[in-house]
Amino acid sequence: MKAQIAFLPGDGVGPEVLAEARRVLETIGRRFNHTFEIVEGDIGGIAIDKHDSPLPAPTIELCKKADAVLLGAVGNKKYDSLPAAKKPERGLLELRTLLGNFANLRPVFVFDPLADSSTVRPEVVRGVDIMFVRELLGGIYFGTPRFREGNRAVDTEVYTVEEVQRVSRVAFELARTRRKHVTSVDKANVLESSILWRQTVVEVAKEFPDVQLDHLYVDNCAMQLILRPKQFDVIVTNNLFGDILSDEGGVLAGSLGMLPSGSIGGRAGFYEPVHGSAPDIAGTGKANPIGAIISVGMMLEYSFKLPELAARVQRAVAHVIDKGYRTADIVSPGKTLMTTSQMGEIICEAIAADDAKYAT
Ligand code: IPM
Ligand code: MN
Repeated sequence: MKAQIAFLPGDGVGPEVLAEARRVLETIGRRFNHTFEIVEGDIGGIAIDKHDSPLPAPTIELCKKADAVLLGAVGNKKYDSLPAAKKPERGLLELRTLLGNFANLRPVFVFDPLADSSTVRPEVVRGVDIMFVRELLGGIYFGTPRFREGNRAVDTEVYTVEEVQRVSRVAFELARTRRKHVTSVDKANVLESSILWRQTVVEVAKEFPDVQLDHLYVDNCAMQLILRPKQFDVIVTNNLFGDILSDEGGVLAGSLGMLPSGSIGGRAGFYEPVHGSAPDIAGTGKANPIGAIISVGMMLEYSFKLPELAARVQRAVAHVIDKGYRTADIVSPGKTLMTTSQMGEIICEAIAADDAKYAT
C-alpha cells in the first residue's frame, strides 16, 4: 500500500522517540513493500518559536491531506506563563478537533518481564491487558463557557447524548474483539453530565447484548486500577477522567514510556505515545521509544488495516524485553541499559528477524 503520514515530532523528547518510530515504519515499509511517505511538520513549542503559533497553517494543511498523523509530544516549561489559548498544548487540542477523532484508545499491556518494574506488586500487574477508550473531543477540555474574570475562573464539563453514544459504541465494538467486558467510568453520584453519560451508555449497551457492562465512579476506579487491575477489559470514560486514569495505567505497565495511543473516528487516525515531552530528559538518550513504536503498530492496525504487521511490532517489542534490553525508565539490576536510539535499532532488528520462533 501507499500512504502519506504527517510526522510531527514536537517538543522535548518528542523528536527522539519519533526518530525511532520512523525507523520502525521504514523497516516495515522496506520489508513488506509498503510506501510510507513521511512528511514533517511543526507543532507545539517549536511551532510557536518558528511560526508564532502552536498549530501553524502548513501543519494544518499537511494533516488535512495525510492518511494518518504521528505525533511525538508537545509542551515546554518555557511557555508556562502564556495564557491557555497560546500554550504548546493548544496545538495538540486543536489538531485533535481538526481531525475529528473522538475516541482515544490507550492500551495498557503489561509485558511479562516488566511485571516487577511496576511499583505495584508483580502478582497484581502480571497479565494486565486493559483498553482505555477516552472521549477526546468533548467534556471540560472544550466546554464553554470558559473564562477568567479576575479572581474567578470557569471551565465547563458538557456532554451530549450523541457524543457519549459514538464513543461508547467504539468501546463496545472493541470489547467484542477482546474479553467482552466494558466498564464505564463516571461521577454520576455528583455530576449532571455523568448522569447523562451513564444513562446513554446503558442505552447503547442494549445494542451489544453479548458484552457485559459495569459502571464505576471515577474515584473508585482510580483505586481499583491499583488494587485489582485484572478485573478490567475495556474502560470507557470522559476526556478528563481518561487523561488521569491512563497515566495511572502507566504505573501498571512499568513506565508511562511504554504506553501508545491511537485516536480514531475522524478523517485520519492520529497516533502518539501517552507520555509527555519530558523536557528534563530531552537529549540524554533516556527516553523510552516503545510507546511511540507501539503507536506505529496501532497506526498499522487501525488506519492501514494491517493487523499482522501491528502484531509483528508488538512481538518485536516483547522479544527485546524478553532478552533483557531496557531503557533508563525500566532498567533493573542484571538488565542491559539501552539508549533511545539503541532500543529503536534493536526493535527494528527483531522486526526484520521475526519468524515462527517468536510467534505468539
Ligand atoms: C495527554 C496529554 C494531553 C491531554 C495534554 C498535553 C494536552 O496529557 O495526551 O494525555 O491532556 O490530553
Ligand atoms: Mn495526559
